[in-house]
Amino acid sequence: MADLSCSFLGIESPNPFWLASAPPTDKALNVYRAFEAGWGGAVWKTLGEDPPPVNVCSRYSAHKSSSGEVIGINNVELITDRPLSVNLSEIRQTKKDWPDRALIVSLMVPCEKKSWQDILKQVEDTGCDGVELNFGCPHGMPERGMGAAVGQVPEYIEMVTQWCKESTDLPVIVKLTPNITNITLSASAAKRAGADAVSLINTINSITGIDLDSMTALGAVGDKYTSGGYCGSAVKPIALNMVGQIGRHPETAGIPVSGIGGISNWHDAAEFIALGAGNVQVCTAAMLNGFKVISDLTDGLSQWMDSKGYKALNDFRGRALAGLTDWKYLDLNYKTVAHINQELCIQCGRCFAACEDTEHQAISVKPLSGEGWERRFEVQKEQCVGCNLCQITCPVNNCISMVRGNEGSEYLPWVRHPANPLTEKP
Ligand SMILES: Cc1cc2nc3c(=O)[nH]c(=O)nc-3n(C[C@H](O)[C@H](O)[C@H](O)COP(=O)(O)O)c2cc1C
Repeated sequence: MADLSCSFLGIESPNPFWLASAPPTDKALNVYRAFEAGWGGAVWKTLGEDPPPVNVCSRYSAHKSSSGEVIGINNVELITDRPLSVNLSEIRQTKKDWPDRALIVSLMVPCEKKSWQDILKQVEDTGCDGVELNFGCPHGMPERGMGAAVGQVPEYIEMVTQWCKESTDLPVIVKLTPNITNITLSASAAKRAGADAVSLINTINSITGIDLDSMTALGAVGDKYTSGGYCGSAVKPIALNMVGQIGRHPETAGIPVSGIGGISNWHDAAEFIALGAGNVQVCTAAMLNGFKVISDLTDGLSQWMDSKGYKALNDFRGRALAGLTDWKYLDLNYKTVAHINQELCIQCGRCFAACEDTEHQAISVKPLSGEGWERRFEVQKEQCVGCNLCQITCPVNNCISMVRGNEGSEYLPWVRHPANPLTEKP
């Protein structure tokens, strides 16, 4: 059996799955139940100074697919609304009772050195394994000069991280906001200040939808609403990209990363680790399915690792980074062509409509002999540009595959494309 045990910044956990800072980690009751279910660690719901903030009703809204599946959720919840002393004593007891699990404390206080020093002193006393600086909350807290108000300015990230590194020996993880243009600037700032790791992503500014009767947003508070933070499976591609960019940028490559954002199953988690994440954090999947989802995550990951011959997480960590590059290095000579498996084709015509109306008219349709409605869709290889759209629209698994069209062709990156005088010299 593959070994899922994980050492992140020297913090040991039996598996790489930590609960992200959010309602599932807001109190000991929840965290104990999560640990009983098998979670490897938890980042406690963000603590701040007393008095704690007041949360509103309602707090969440969802973006759903046409079949009713939740694709993403939006929230306008703030940091913990429980007194600091209650949280600290629960954290202390939790770590005592669960010494083999990772317990990290998320923090957010006003942008003053003394506020950070004071809270760090109190948190150190709990025996927790590390702290995570919440520079990502996109709603409410930025209006008070905290959260994303810090995370959107690299100089502030650097300044506050430095204060924290000077004030504690605990490992410091800097949690980044995705509501910026270039994540490597944020990660660089954290690294310059000596952060032990970055974690990402926090939630993305969003409005999930408008109720056209009330003319307010879903999840409104009475007749008013505000933009909230989006998370869940919809944000995974954005998070993966940011983790990948940090992993390949010369200034940030090598900084440990805790991957967060839309992790709903073991496959998602493996993708983050393949892009270099040292561990992963999960919030929405636990909120939607309960803590028991951890069994699927650990069983699935370990079975897949067994099937690939990976004995430990480090055996595949970062393996997908090698191929991540700039567009200009993609091979202009690499050709693929769509192939339709006629035995699997249900003749729905979605590939035809997509290609005919919006791409390169590379799929032909012919009635089959006889009186019936049956027809045959075929790829016209000369027209096909290998865009993948037919495969994406096809509702039948493995019916359309993309087949290599010119095996063994010479690698031709744009940087030395002879037909383009604007290209760089190699
Ligand atoms: C209701 C809710 C409350 C959250 N509160 C916090 C918080 O207090 N501190 C924090 O750092 N992140 C908070 N988050 C963000 C999550 O920790 C996580 O970064 C984000 O949800 C993306 O992960 P996911 O797609 O697995 O949910 C919250 C998320 C949700 C949904």
